[in-house]
Amino acid sequence: MRILVTGGAGFIGSNFVRYMLDKHAHCRIINLDKLTYAGNPDNLRDIENDPRYRFVKGDIADVSIVGSLMANVDIVVNFAAETHVDRSIHEPGGFIQTDVVGIYVILEEARKHKTRKIVLVSTDEVYGSIEKGSFTEQDRLSPSSPYSASKAGGELLALAYYRTFGLPVCITRGSNTYGPYQYPEKVIPLFVTNALDDIPLPLYGDGLNVRDWLHALDHCSAIDLVLHEGVPGEVYNVGGGNERTNIQITHMILDLLNKPRTLIKAVPDRLGHDRRYSIDCAKIKRLGWRPEQTFEEGMRATVDWYAKNEWWWRKLKSGEYLDYYKKQYATGLESDSERQQRENE
Ligand code: NAD
Ligand code: DAU
Repeated sequence: MRILVTGGAGFIGSNFVRYMLDKHAHCRIINLDKLTYAGNPDNLRDIENDPRYRFVKGDIADVSIVGSLMANVDIVVNFAAETHVDRSIHEPGGFIQTDVVGIYVILEEARKHKTRKIVLVSTDEVYGSIEKGSFTEQDRLSPSSPYSASKAGGELLALAYYRTFGLPVCITRGSNTYGPYQYPEKVIPLFVTNALDDIPLPLYGDGLNVRDWLHALDHCSAIDLVLHEGVPGEVYNVGGGNERTNIQITHMILDLLNKPRTLIKAVPDRLGHDRRYSIDCAKIKRLGWRPEQTFEEGMRATVDWYAKNEWWWRKLKSGEYLDYYKKQYATGLESDSERQQRENE
């Protein structure tokens, strides 16, 4: 099994590379990653010398690199994407370039090289928000943010390539994923690392938005299953079955770290903030998938991982990260006197 993993230096991609090498002795992986701010070679330090693994720095929108790598693999699993909703609100261009144009390049090159299977890792955010019940794969797409709209665009292109050219592509729509090696802009690693430093946890709006949490390794096992058993042209929802409000998540983190709730700071809401995500996962369960981690155990282990691996996250919270943090949270986190001063200027 020769696999091209794209975006394998990011959070889920790096967990997937490690998972596949552990699980499949004969698997060979090429990891193509542009190493954006979210791509981190530290995520795969432990396996970088494994003879079955090769890293290539490059862009999925670069036809020549993608074409040359595609000539040597049977399967492509795409994780590469711009992934953070808040950044897509500030600067959508990069999202359209990678999550739509990049996907187009992968599909075209896969078609030319007759790639045996293509798995696009997508997101439950393409459905938009749901007040009651859960979305099935048949429901219409109604994305709210530039991020989720770009992911939906990439998906629709992929399905068109299946219908028009018979390209054997499957799509997974995963829910909010947590675990080790997640860049500390996403809510769980952000709140855990802020709490470890005793600095405020910026909670958006009323804290009652609901997300369904899925452990990274359960997400990886679902993608592995779809890669082997998924029917070309089909979409599979992948959810952890752990719906929680953001305030519940925040309390859980503070309790696990034995930190006070006074660290919570309500800040202005995200624009277009989806209220609730919920997906029906009966279809992938019929293929034989089940999440293995309970949320309580998974969260305990995850919080513990960040507490013990300060070497990994401390250096990420500098430079570009601090500029972004200031832009995103400055007005929400400023003190009364800072606000007064800003208003007087
Ligand atoms: P991440 O932001 O941690 O990592 C993304 C990776 O893609 C980084 O290594 C980055 O360098 C790389 N990359 C970005 N643009 C690239 C380009 N043009 N060419 C090559 N590499 C590029 O992302 P993640 O959270 O691990 O998400 C991985 C995939 O899973 C994404 O497609 C995302 O939409 C999807 N997803 C994520 C979640 C979640 O909760 N994190 C849930 C469902 C689906
Ligand atoms: O649902 C799958 C999606 O989950 C993935 O496709 C995305 O790539 C991934 O980033 C994630 O999107 P969310 O927007 O749901 O994740 P995020 O961690 O940014 O936010 C989770 C919830 O926490 C959301 O309701 C917003 C809230 N939040 C987030 C941040 C960063 C806060 O209250 N404060 C914050 O500072």
